[in-house]
Amino acid sequence: MSVQKTVRRITVPQIRNRKGGEPIVSLTSYHAHTAAIVDRYADFILVGDSLGMVMHGMDSTIGVPLDLMIMHGRAVVRGTERALIVVDLPFGTYEESPQVAFRNAAQVMKETGCGAVKLEGGARMAETIRFLVERGIPVMAHIGLTPQSSHVMGGFKTQGRDEETWPAHEADAKAVAEAGAFAVVLEGMVEPLAAKISKQIDIPTIGIGASADCDGQILVLEDMLGLNPTPPKFVKVYGDLGDGIERAVRTYAEEVKARSFPDEKNTY
Ligand code: KIV
Repeated sequence: MSVQKTVRRITVPQIRNRKGGEPIVSLTSYHAHTAAIVDRYADFILVGDSLGMVMHGMDSTIGVPLDLMIMHGRAVVRGTERALIVVDLPFGTYEESPQVAFRNAAQVMKETGCGAVKLEGGARMAETIRFLVERGIPVMAHIGLTPQSSHVMGGFKTQGRDEETWPAHEADAKAVAEAGAFAVVLEGMVEPLAAKISKQIDIPTIGIGASADCDGQILVLEDMLGLNPTPPKFVKVYGDLGDGIERAVRTYAEEVKARSFPDEKNTY
C-alpha cells in the first residue's frame, strides 16, 4: 500500500515563475526545530554555509566541510514539508571543475533530499551551472558579496560602490541566468545596482543587504531573531531571542541554586 502525502513542496519552477510577481520570502535554517516554524511562512529555506559561523563559531565560511552541510541539510528536510529546501555547496567542493561540482552536488541532493543547491560566483561559474542544470541539479546562484571569496575581496565589503564596477556585476547576473540558474542571490550590493540587475534578468533576484526591488529577500534567521549580538548593519532585527534565552537560563540557574527546581511537576 502506498501512502500519499497531501502537502506538496514548493518547486523550483514555481520559484522561477515568481519573477516580477509576489515577493519571495526566504530565511536560512540549520536544524529541524526552527525549520519547522520557518516552513509555515517561507517559500524556500536555505541551509546556508553561514552555519559554520552562526552555529559552529568559525571565523568564516571557508572551513565548512561538505558532510556538515549534509548533516544540517537532512535535519532541515526532516523538519519541513512545504518550502523548497536549498543547500549551499561549501568552499572547495565545486570550483575545480563541473565534474567535481556534479559529484558533490549529487551527493548533497541524494543524502539530504533537498530540492536545489546554491553556489557562489557569476560568469566564472556559468559553465558549471549549465553542466549541473543539464544533468538534473537545480542551481541557485549567488553574486555580489560572496563570502567564500572574502580573502580575495579583502573582507565583507559592499559591492558596487564604484559605478565603474557595475558592468562586471551585471555581466555576472546575465551569465548565471543564461546558464540556467533558477534564481540568484544578490548579497551586499548597493541598492541602485541590485535594482538595475533585477530589471535586467528574467530570473528572480533574492536580496540580502541589497534592494527592496529584488524579487525576494533572505536573512540569516539568527540575525533577525536577535541571537547575533553584532548583526550586519543592514539587518532588521524582528525578535529578541538573545535576551529571552538569557532571561530563561538565568531564572533556571537561580531556581536550581535555591533548590526550587525540579518541583513535582518537573519530575517523571
Ligand atoms: O550562507 C548563507 O546563509 C547565505 C545567505 C546569507 C544568502 O549564503
